[in-house]
Amino acid sequence: MKALVLAGDSGTRLRTITHSRAKQLVPIANRPVLFYGLESIAEAGIEEVGIVVGQTASEIEEVVGDGSAFGLRVTYIRQSEPLGLAHAVLVAREFLGDDDFVMYLGDNFVIGGIAGLVEDFRRLRPEAHMLLTRVSDPSSFGVAELDHGGNVVRLKEKPEHHRSDLALVGVYMFTPAVHEAVDAIKPSSRGELEITDALQWLIDQGRDVRSSVIDGYWKDTGNVSDMLEANRVVLQSLERRIDGEVDDTSQITGRVHIDSGAQVRNSRIIGPVTIGADTVIEDSYVGPFTSVDHSCVIHSSEIEFSIVLPEASIQGVGRIEASLIGRQVQVAPSPRAPSAHRLVLGDHSKVQIRP
Ligand code: DAU
Repeated sequence: MKALVLAGDSGTRLRTITHSRAKQLVPIANRPVLFYGLESIAEAGIEEVGIVVGQTASEIEEVVGDGSAFGLRVTYIRQSEPLGLAHAVLVAREFLGDDDFVMYLGDNFVIGGIAGLVEDFRRLRPEAHMLLTRVSDPSSFGVAELDHGGNVVRLKEKPEHHRSDLALVGVYMFTPAVHEAVDAIKPSSRGELEITDALQWLIDQGRDVRSSVIDGYWKDTGNVSDMLEANRVVLQSLERRIDGEVDDTSQITGRVHIDSGAQVRNSRIIGPVTIGADTVIEDSYVGPFTSVDHSCVIHSSEIEFSIVLPEASIQGVGRIEASLIGRQVQVAPSPRAPSAHRLVLGDHSKVQIRP
């Protein structure tokens, strides 16, 4: 069995914090979300992985390399334009050959991995198997309608009016039957070859298509609270490891990971917390469920339940909670007078200020 990981561009989708960067590299506990998917694939006993890449190919290739760090053999497959998930299967046809495969969307995060699901698929070998989960806003997903027997009868991509709250999770398992379906379907009204249409084609042909409903699923939709939640879940199983320097006036409590080159001075850190390499924390408090990436500065501030991306600086601003701070962002106090907020915010930023 092989895996096909989709880490190309998306069409006209909701923006994420990454903007021009690959959204599969958004960090969860200081590691790209894509890494968790690759680890799940390796845990499921799969070694041969094709990664579909688009304009951000070089960023993806730089961090994943040949896949050996994950125990995988990676082949990169170029997709010139994001013409749909089923189009990605089409461009990977040669790589996939006549093998069964799991298709994994590189921006998805499935808590607890996929090993059990892949094992069931190998044993039962239906022609296709999809994963579903209950969501509060199905309109940004593919949505499945089930009959009384629990079989999927209809799939709709991002429906305006949804008849079910069961969303398609970005993990699908296929036999080569999917290639017939991909060849048979036409682009949707948004101009994409939809994997939901390929699955619907198989269902309409009376083929053996199954589904299972899972919990513990997260998807990057630019939704900060979901991202903080995924970060919280990963940090919960963090091991304590202090490779950086901590001075005598600092206090480190609980499961805290401090990378080498990081420095903690006169500060209090209460885990679970991860601090990236070369970050400096001084005269500050870092509270539970916080990930601070590499090369950041936190000075005379307090931060809790937050994610801080590389090279950000937070200095002298009091307490920050439930926040996502982007790359190279600077958060600092304004001059004493006049009393005003001075903001330089990128597109799609969100700021909450106490009036
Ligand atoms: O995350 C689950 C949802 O993923 C499902 O519920 C939907 O049915 C499915 O269509 C998909 O919807 P999205 O709109 O979220 O897909 P997105 O464009 O974000 O692409 C998902 C991943 O696949 C992302 O890592 C980019 C990659 N991709 C996407 C397209 C359209 C490609 O590599 N090539 C493509 O052509």
